[in-house]
Amino acid sequence: MENNVTKTKAWKKLALHYRFFKKTEMKDLFALDARRGSRYAVSLGSLYLDYSKNRFNEKTMQHLLELADEVHLKEKIEAMFAGEKINRTENRAVLHTALRNRASTPVYVDGRDVMPEINAVLAKMKKFTDAVRYGEFKGETGKKLTTIVNIGIGGSDLGPVMATAALKEYWAKDVQCHFISNIDGSACDDVLSKIDPETTLFVIVSKTFTTIETLTNARTCRKWLIDALGEFAVAKHFVAVSTNAAEVAKFGINTDNMFEFWDFVGGRYSMWSAVGLSIALAIGMENFEKMLDGAYEMDNHFRSAPFAENIPVILGLLGVWYDNFFNFHSYGVVPYDQDLRYLPAYLQQLDMESNGKSVNLNNKFVKHATGPVLFGGAGTDVQHSFFQLLHQGTQVVPLDLIVPAISHNEIGEHHEILVANALAQGEALMRGKTVGEAAAELAKSGKSVTDVSRLKRYKSFAGNRPTNTIVIKKLDPYALGMLVAMYEHKVFVEGAIWNIDSFDQMGVELGKQMALSILPELQGHASGLHDSSTRRLIELVKKLRK
Ligand code: F6P
Repeated sequence: MENNVTKTKAWKKLALHYRFFKKTEMKDLFALDARRGSRYAVSLGSLYLDYSKNRFNEKTMQHLLELADEVHLKEKIEAMFAGEKINRTENRAVLHTALRNRASTPVYVDGRDVMPEINAVLAKMKKFTDAVRYGEFKGETGKKLTTIVNIGIGGSDLGPVMATAALKEYWAKDVQCHFISNIDGSACDDVLSKIDPETTLFVIVSKTFTTIETLTNARTCRKWLIDALGEFAVAKHFVAVSTNAAEVAKFGINTDNMFEFWDFVGGRYSMWSAVGLSIALAIGMENFEKMLDGAYEMDNHFRSAPFAENIPVILGLLGVWYDNFFNFHSYGVVPYDQDLRYLPAYLQQLDMESNGKSVNLNNKFVKHATGPVLFGGAGTDVQHSFFQLLHQGTQVVPLDLIVPAISHNEIGEHHEILVANALAQGEALMRGKTVGEAAAELAKSGKSVTDVSRLKRYKSFAGNRPTNTIVIKKLDPYALGMLVAMYEHKVFVEGAIWNIDSFDQMGVELGKQMALSILPELQGHASGLHDSSTRRLIELVKKLRK
C-alpha cells in the first residue's frame, strides 16, 4: 500500500484534473445539467445531504473515489468497526461505534467481547437516571435532585453541552443543567451562585481523572457542598464518569457511584458512553438511546453503502479535494437552529483534535495539508458577523448549512424566514453577482452613472463558493445521533486518506507541561528558564497581583 497519499495514482490524476477544473463555475455546471441538484444528493432516513453546490464534476468524483480505493478506505473502516488497534500511536482500538452497536453483535478487543460491558454501563445509567428523575435517588436532605452540574472539559464537556442544548425540548420539566469546564474561577462562580446544594447533583466527567481543570473545579464544588451540607453529602451529590477507578476513589467518590468507560473510547468520541450521563439525566434514557439508534443507522450506512452514495465518504472526499487541491484550509459549519448553536464548538474539537496532525502513520512528516480550521455558529446570527468574509473576502471557506425542516417552536413565520435564509445563503454563495449584474441592479434602482461606476465592484460577489446543505426533518434525539456520527465518520475518512492517527492528541501536551512549570513561578516558589517575553510576563502578572 502507498503510504504517502500524494504518491498515489489518484492523487496525481486529481492534481492534473484540478489544473483544468479550478476555474469552472458551479453556476455553469448547474446550467449544463438541469438535474445536478438531484444527481448530487443522498438521503438516509430523514437526513438529506445536497452536495451539488460544490466545485466538482463527475470526473472529480471519479478520481476521488479512486483515491478512496487506493488508500484502502473500505478496509480501514472495517478495521475500526472490528476493534483493530487503529489508534497506533497509543496502541488502542477506536470503538465509539461499539457504544451504539444496537444489535449488540460481538466486538472484540484483545479477544474480549466488549459489548456486555457496554450494555452493563447503559443499564446502570438507566437505573441511575430513572432513580434521579423519579426522585428515588435523593439528596442528603431528602430533596429530589433536579439540578445537574456536569464538570469536565474538552470531550468530557462539549458533547454534553452540545447535546443537552440541542435536545432542550426533551428535558424533564423540573430539570436544570449547568456545565463547568474552564479553570477560570468565574465558571464555578457563575454556576454555584445560581444553584441550591440540596437539589444539585454534580457529575464529574474525566476519562483520565487527572485533568487539572476538572479536578480543581470538582474540588471547589465539593468544598461548596460540604460547607453547605457536610462531608456525608458528597456520596449523595457526586457521581463520576471515568476510566480511572483508582483516581475516582482517591478523590473521595464512592466507586459504586462511578460510571465506567474504556480506553477504546476517545474523549471527543465519548458522548455515547456514560460521558453522556448528564444528557441522559436531562432527556431520559429512552431518548438517549434514540440518539444511539440514530448514530447506529449512520454507522451501518457508513460501513455498508457504496462510496458513491455514502454520506460521510462524500463529505470527507470533498474535504480533501478542497483542503489539498484548492488550498481552502478552513471549513465552516452553520446550523440554522438555535438549539444547535454549540455544534460548531463540538465539531471544532472533533475535527481539529483528530486531524490537526503533521506526522503520518509511517512516522514521517506529511507533505500536504491535513485538518482544516473549523469554525461556525448558528444561523441567522452569523450572517451578521462572519458571512461578509464568506461572500466577499479573498479566502474561500467551504460551508455546511444544517437545516431542520420543522421547528420545535413554530411561531408565526419565524421558521420559514430562518429556512429561507439558509437556502438563500447556499444559492448566493454559489451564484454570486457579477460586476455587470451589480451595475445593472444599481442603474435599475435609479443610481446615477457616477454612482453605478463607483459602487458596482463593491456590490459584486465572486460566487462559486461551496456549500453542503444538510436537511433533517426535525431536531430530535435520533436525528442528532445521525448528524454527529456523520461528522465523526467524515473526519475518519479524511484522516484515513491522509494516513494520520486521528485518535491521539499529543499536541495538547506541551502547553499543559509548560503551564505546570510556570505555576510555581507565578506563586513565587520557583524560577525557571524562559524566553525574555515569557519571563517579563510572569514578572508583570506577579507584580499586578501583589
Ligand atoms: O486536552 C485534551 C484532552 O485530553 C481531550 O482530548 C479530552 O477530551 C480532554 O482533554 C479532557 O480529558 P479528560 O476526560 O481525561 O479529563
